[in-house]
Amino acid sequence: MNNAPVIDETARASLIAAARAARETAYAPYSHFTVGAALLFADGSVVTGCNVENASYGLSLCAETVACASAAHAGRRGGLVAVAVAGGPEGVDGEPITPCGRCRQVLHEQGALGGTDPLVLSAGGDGIVIEERLSFLLPRAFGPAYLG
Ligand code: THU
Repeated sequence: MNNAPVIDETARASLIAAARAARETAYAPYSHFTVGAALLFADGSVVTGCNVENASYGLSLCAETVACASAAHAGRRGGLVAVAVAGGPEGVDGEPITPCGRCRQVLHEQGALGGTDPLVLSAGGDGIVIEERLSFLLPRAFGPAYLG
């Protein structure tokens, strides 16, 4: 799988800002842990999502999954260059968080469809940003290629 293009500092900063803005719309009355995610596509467009919890706790959706579903609904199939995630306890800009296992798999689908290995930017409140390729977070991923 090809690596996604490297994105510059301005694009990184604006993607992180989009994730932080999306976090503001999180519906997290049960965990009080709010998360925003922003997906950057090769054409420069950005699709965001927030976590959406449910009174039946196990049905809650993570921010990254909501963003991926929104992108798919908008017709996106591949072209995922980078993902920014910002989250933590409500009202707190805490430690950088990385996507959960399920979200790594969901993100992989959108990357794999276009042959990209997206950069994952996990933004903390103290300005610390952890950067990893999705293939590092989810090595030997199962994907659409296996299904022919
Ligand atoms: N959550 C996300 O939205 N993304 C992550 O990467 C980790 C966890 C959400 C799920 C749940 O609503 C809350 O954070 C606490 O787990």
